[in-house]
Amino acid sequence: MLSRFLTVSTLATLAFAATGSEYHAACEAVEATVSNASKVYYPGNLLYTKGIYHPTASSQESPACVVEPGTPEDVGRILNVINAMKTPFAVKSGGHTMNPGFSSTKGIHIYTGKFSQVTYDAASGTAVIGTGLIWDNVYQRLQEHHVNVVGGRVTGVGVGGLLLGGGYSYKTNQYGLSIDSIVGFNLVLPNGTVAYVTQSAHPDLFFGLKGGFNNFGIVTDFTMNTFPQTEVWGGQIMYPFTQFNEVRAAIADFSADSQDPKAAILPSYISYQGNHIINQGIFYDGPNPPPGTFDNFTNILSVSSDLKTRSYVDMILSSPANSTAGLRGSFQMLGVSHFSQTLLEAVEEELKYWTVKLTPKGGSFFSYSIEPFLPNYLSHPNSPSAFPTPAARNLGKAPNPLLISFGWIDSFYDDEFVGAVEESANRLAAMAEAEGLLSDHPLALYGNYVNSRTPLVDIYGDNLPRLRALRAEIDPEDVMGLSGGFRF
Ligand SMILES: Cc1cc2nc3c(=O)[nH]c(=O)nc-3n(C[C@H](O)[C@H](O)[C@H](O)COP(=O)(O)OP(=O)(O)OC[C@H]3O[C@@H](n4cnc5c(N)ncnc54)[C@H](O)[C@@H]3O)c2cc1C
Ligand SMILES: *[C@@H]1O[C@H](CO)[C@@H](O)[C@H](O)[C@H]1NC(C)=O
Ligand SMILES: *[C@@H]1O[C@H](CO)[C@@H](O)[C@H](O)[C@H]1NC(C)=O
Ligand SMILES: *[C@@H]1O[C@H](CO)[C@@H](O)[C@H](O)[C@H]1NC(C)=O
Ligand SMILES: *[C@@H]1O[C@H](CO)[C@@H](O)[C@H](O)[C@H]1NC(C)=O
Repeated sequence: MLSRFLTVSTLATLAFAATGSEYHAACEAVEATVSNASKVYYPGNLLYTKGIYHPTASSQESPACVVEPGTPEDVGRILNVINAMKTPFAVKSGGHTMNPGFSSTKGIHIYTGKFSQVTYDAASGTAVIGTGLIWDNVYQRLQEHHVNVVGGRVTGVGVGGLLLGGGYSYKTNQYGLSIDSIVGFNLVLPNGTVAYVTQSAHPDLFFGLKGGFNNFGIVTDFTMNTFPQTEVWGGQIMYPFTQFNEVRAAIADFSADSQDPKAAILPSYISYQGNHIINQGIFYDGPNPPPGTFDNFTNILSVSSDLKTRSYVDMILSSPANSTAGLRGSFQMLGVSHFSQTLLEAVEEELKYWTVKLTPKGGSFFSYSIEPFLPNYLSHPNSPSAFPTPAARNLGKAPNPLLISFGWIDSFYDDEFVGAVEESANRLAAMAEAEGLLSDHPLALYGNYVNSRTPLVDIYGDNLPRLRALRAEIDPEDVMGLSGGFRF
C-alpha cells in the first residue's frame, strides 16, 4: 500500500515537473517572437512580482513567466505561440477579480501594464484609455482637461476587467454603466489579428465585448465618451454600531426617494477586526450639493467623516479598499428593486451571524455593500450589450446590487468561505423575495460581482445564444479557452 502510494506520488511529481518545463519553453518561444517593445520576466524579478500582484491573495498564482506586451501586434504574436503550444495563460489588468484563475495562471501570465495611455481628443470629446491602468490614474490624467469618464468608485480597481464586465460608477445615475459610454475597443482577436471594434465596423463584437470579458480576445485600449468634470463633494463617513437604526432609516429613504442623478451613496455594512461599522461613500457630482441632499446622513453621529469639496480622483482615493489587501476573498451579489429597512435589518443579522460563525476560522472582513441607483439607470445604452439583458434594460426599475464580500486568511477554508458568501446571498434573496423586493430580473447578476460557479444564464440571460454563436465564429480553435474566466 505504502509503495503504491509512493509510486503514484512520484509519478505526480514527474508529471508536474514536465508540465513546468513545457510552460518554460512557451515563455522562451514568446521571448523569441515579440518585438523589443515587450518584456518577459521570470520568478525572482521584481517586475515579475509586480506583474502577478492581486490585492486578493486567493486570486494570485505563480506563473512560469510574466509577459508585458508593448504593442497590440506583440499581443497577437503571444496568442499565436499560446495557441500553437496550447499553453494555459491569463490576462491581467488591475487584478481586482475575486475569482481564482480569472486573471492568474501557472502558464503564461500576460500583464497589460504597458498599455497605459490616456489620450484626450477635445474635438470628438473622447479619450483613449489603456487597459493596464487603474482608475485612480485615469481620473488624475483627465483632470487637466476638466473632463471625466464613467469608471470605478474605489482606489486600485483596474480599467480592463471593469470595462469588459459592465462598470458601476458614481456617475451611473447620469450616464449609465461604464460600457454605455464606450465607443471603440482595440481588440487583438484570438488568432492574433488586431481589430478596432466599433458599432458600425463590427456590431456583433461591439455587443459581445460590452460585458463579455475575455471571450473574444485581448483588448489593449478603450475609446470612451467623456463628460465635463468639475470638483465634486463627498468622501467617506463611518458610523458606529450604536447608530445603525438611524443610518438604516436614512439609507432606506434615500433608496426610495432620491431623484437627483448627481447624488450617490455607497454604504457598506462591515465587520472588521471585531467591530461592526457602516462605512459609507457619499458623492455629489458638483462642488456643493443642494441643501438637504445628504442631511439625513450628515446629521447622524459618526466616528469619522471627511466629506468636503475635492477633485474626483481625491474622492476615489478616500475609499478604504486597500485595508483588506492581502486577504483571501470572495464576492456574490443579489439584485433588489430597492433597499427597505426590513431588508437592511436582515443584512445586519447576516453580518452578525457570519462574523460569529467564521471569525474562529480566520474570517477577518465581512462586508455587505448597498448600491442604490435611480430606477432608470440602465436606460442609457448607445447600442445593445452582452450584459445586462434587454429585459433588465427595459425595466422601469433596474436591479440594485447588494454585494457581499468576505475576507479570510487561510487557504484551508477557501471552499467554506466561498460557500458562506453564496449562502448569505441566497438567504437574503429568499428574504427579499418574501418581502416583494427581489428585482423582477433577479438573474441579471453582474459578472464582476459574482463567483465563478454562477451559471452564465444568470448573468447573460437571453443574450447567451448570440454570445455563444459569436464566440464559435471568432475563436473556432478555443484559444481563449486556455485562460480562465466566464466562458461562453
Ligand atoms: C475593492 C473593489 C472595488 C470594486 N469597485 C467596483 C466598482 O465601483 N464598480 C464596478 O463595476 N466594479 C467594482 N469592482 C469589481 C471590479 O469591476 C472587478 O473586480 C473587475 O474585474 C476589476 O478589473 P481588473 O482589471 O482590476 O481585474 P482583473 O483581475 O485584471 O481582470 C478581471 C477579468 O477581466 C479580464 N480582463 C482584464 N483585462 C482584460 C483585457 N485587456 N482583455 C481581455 N480580458 C481582460 C481578465 O482576464 C479577468 O478574467 C470592485 C472590486 C473590488 C475588489
Ligand atoms: C527596437 O527595434 C526597433 C526596430 O524594430 C529599433 O529601431 C529600436 O532602436 C529598438 N529599440 C531598442 C531600445 O533596442
Ligand atoms: C430624510 O428623512 C425624512 C424623514 O425620514 C424623509 O422624509 C426624507 O425623504 C429623507 N430625505 C432624503 C433626501 O432621503
Ligand atoms: C491602493 O493600492 C494601489 C495599488 O496596490 C495603489 O496604486 C493606490 O495608490 C492605493 N490607494 C491608496 C489610497 O493608498
Ligand atoms: C482572424 O479572425 C478574424 C475573425 O474571425 C477573421 O476575420 C480573420 O480573417 C482571421 N485572420 C486570420 C489571419 O486568420
